[in-house]
Amino acid sequence: MTRIILDTDLAMGAPGSDIDDGFALALAHADPDLQLDLVTTVSGNTDVESATLLTLELAERLGRPDLPVHRGASAPLTRPDRHRDAPEATRSAYGHRAPRPGPAAVALLEHVLAHPGEITLVAVGPLTNVAAALSLDRRLASSVREVVVMGGVFLGQTHATGMPGEFNIWSDPEAAEAVLRCGAPLRFVGLDVTLQVRLTREHARAMVEDGGGFGAFAGESTAAWIDHQAARHPGDPAQADSCALHDPLAVAVVTRPELVTWRDAHVQVVTGDGPARGVMVTDLLDGVDAPAPNCRVATAVDADAFLSHLLSTLGRL
Ligand code: BDR
Ligand code: CA
Repeated sequence: MTRIILDTDLAMGAPGSDIDDGFALALAHADPDLQLDLVTTVSGNTDVESATLLTLELAERLGRPDLPVHRGASAPLTRPDRHRDAPEATRSAYGHRAPRPGPAAVALLEHVLAHPGEITLVAVGPLTNVAAALSLDRRLASSVREVVVMGGVFLGQTHATGMPGEFNIWSDPEAAEAVLRCGAPLRFVGLDVTLQVRLTREHARAMVEDGGGFGAFAGESTAAWIDHQAARHPGDPAQADSCALHDPLAVAVVTRPELVTWRDAHVQVVTGDGPARGVMVTDLLDGVDAPAPNCRVATAVDADAFLSHLLSTLGRL
């Protein structure tokens, strides 16, 4: 049993919103090999208030109304908020639901320090909360079991070539760079692999038909997200019938690292201003002068095995 904290910019449940953080939360809850201790929220796919409310709503839907949820950063470390708009996501009140008192960075830090070597932190949004916790107490890096991040894009990059970007890293480059330098065991699941994991309209239909309480909600949300993406990218056949499923892969690899092929790498993020802000610069360590690795990055995924694990695990709900 691996104990985890999920740090998320969840927007699932709001019309026209990305669904993958919601699948990550559901998988973290449903996988019998994982114990979900705590959820922290961050601005990203939507503003942090909406992310917090939607997380509380989903926790209740999953039968975990007691799940501790702490509201986190409302903006990147050094810049104003630039979350993606999730239409109609923002609500004015929590109603009977409320996050736990205390900011996310403090909550996750205290939880890790209270259980040294036991807690894996799975971060599937901008890394603002994690960096804020590190700046409060560097012992986070030596006390956490591992940090698994959905973020970045790595392959084919060498110094001074290409400028691929990924939302979570681009959203708060200073935070990502702080995490990369912290010395904790780090694994990154980036777009190179998550774009290969496709949830289709057929999957959505099957979830509605076969699933329990979560299945109908998940299937309907998936179909709505595919519709939304297809309308935004007309003429792109990849978007017409399926959507990428990023974040739950980061949850899955905590206990099933074999779903992905890993490679050590030295990764930096471009900070400061300019057109390359947020770009990851990756050295895949083939040269004799290569710098020491600071993380492991995913280079390939067994998408069928992952989807089968995800759908069968969620089918338990
Ligand atoms: C990442 O950005 C968000 O849209 C997704 O939830 C995922 O965490 C993919 O780039
Ligand atoms: Ca996310």
